[in-house]
Amino acid sequence: MKDVYVLAFESSCDETSVSIIKNGYEEIATVVLSQMDIHASYGGVVPEIASRNHVENITIVIEEVLNKSTLTMNDIDLIAVTYGPGLIGSLLVGLQAAKTLAFIYNKPLVPVHHIAGHIYANNLFKPMRFPLIALVVSGGHTELVYMKEDYSFKKIGGTLDDAVGEAYDKVARVMGLKYPGGPLVDVLAHEGKDLYTLPLPLDDYSYNFSFSGLKSAVINLVHNEKQRGKEIDNKNLACSFQTRVVDILTKKTLKALKEYNVDNLIVAGGVAANKGLREKLEKLCEQNNINLSIPPVRYCTDNAAMIGAAGYYAYKLGKTSDLDINAKSNDELV
Ligand code: KG4
Ligand code: ZN
Repeated sequence: MKDVYVLAFESSCDETSVSIIKNGYEEIATVVLSQMDIHASYGGVVPEIASRNHVENITIVIEEVLNKSTLTMNDIDLIAVTYGPGLIGSLLVGLQAAKTLAFIYNKPLVPVHHIAGHIYANNLFKPMRFPLIALVVSGGHTELVYMKEDYSFKKIGGTLDDAVGEAYDKVARVMGLKYPGGPLVDVLAHEGKDLYTLPLPLDDYSYNFSFSGLKSAVINLVHNEKQRGKEIDNKNLACSFQTRVVDILTKKTLKALKEYNVDNLIVAGGVAANKGLREKLEKLCEQNNINLSIPPVRYCTDNAAMIGAAGYYAYKLGKTSDLDINAKSNDELV
């Protein structure tokens, strides 16, 4: 069978990324230009600044990725692009670049949902096995997805308020850590002990999550201790927060695996880089004979390689689009 080369774009938040993926699993070249340092001084991503930087970076990144490979646009079979969800101004830059190249070079355009991309990041280092449960944990999403086969997504639960990465970043801010604080809380958590009393969030029979109550509990605890003139131990606080988060994520994930009678679990999204979550899932999956797949850290955070992998499978199912497709800041994974 002829090899299929995908040129993929991802610009939904603050990373400008372009990648070339062969046959849905082989990474030929990827470039990720992160704006993290620019946004750090504002304590979070500033949408207007993000889209301006995407505009400045996108052509440089396209050129760089083609230079890194030995390919030209003539070798590319299709163009895949994140159309949503994400920051609308940021999405539009990647989408416009993808449409322009699809038009000039007469290539099929395949729109990819950002979460489908995070899930397919797994396929870049280990073939995905079905049926599976995907635990998607990022700055914008906390979802449990059942997949019977390739590119079939059934969302069985999601967050009712803050996404888990968002909760991490907000808690980090209260602790005086710089943005994005998730990885820093993770490091501190491993140096501390679970000594603070915090609630296990939304510990019910649903597959949904809620992290705003836990986040507020941390904020109140910090304020109360300050008012009483007491020092907060950031390491212990990070450990207590992370223990609650990991406990509820793993508890509901395991319940989903059992109830759907599935023995393949994949983890996706920026928070999949979390050491505490990885360690607990590794232990639980071993005990329960579950095949666990968590991508290497560089595939967990936003990148275009994952969009190229997902785009290949979407293309095989004929999910191409006209050039008048628009970006969507909110969209369900279907
Ligand atoms: O998937 P991603 O790169 O962007 C979104 O699509 O949201 O995820 C970014 C999120 C941020 O909230 C960041 O703090 C969090 O992932 N994150 C972590 C860790 N590494 C990244 N959260 C907890 N522990 C980590 N090690
Ligand atoms: Zn993401």
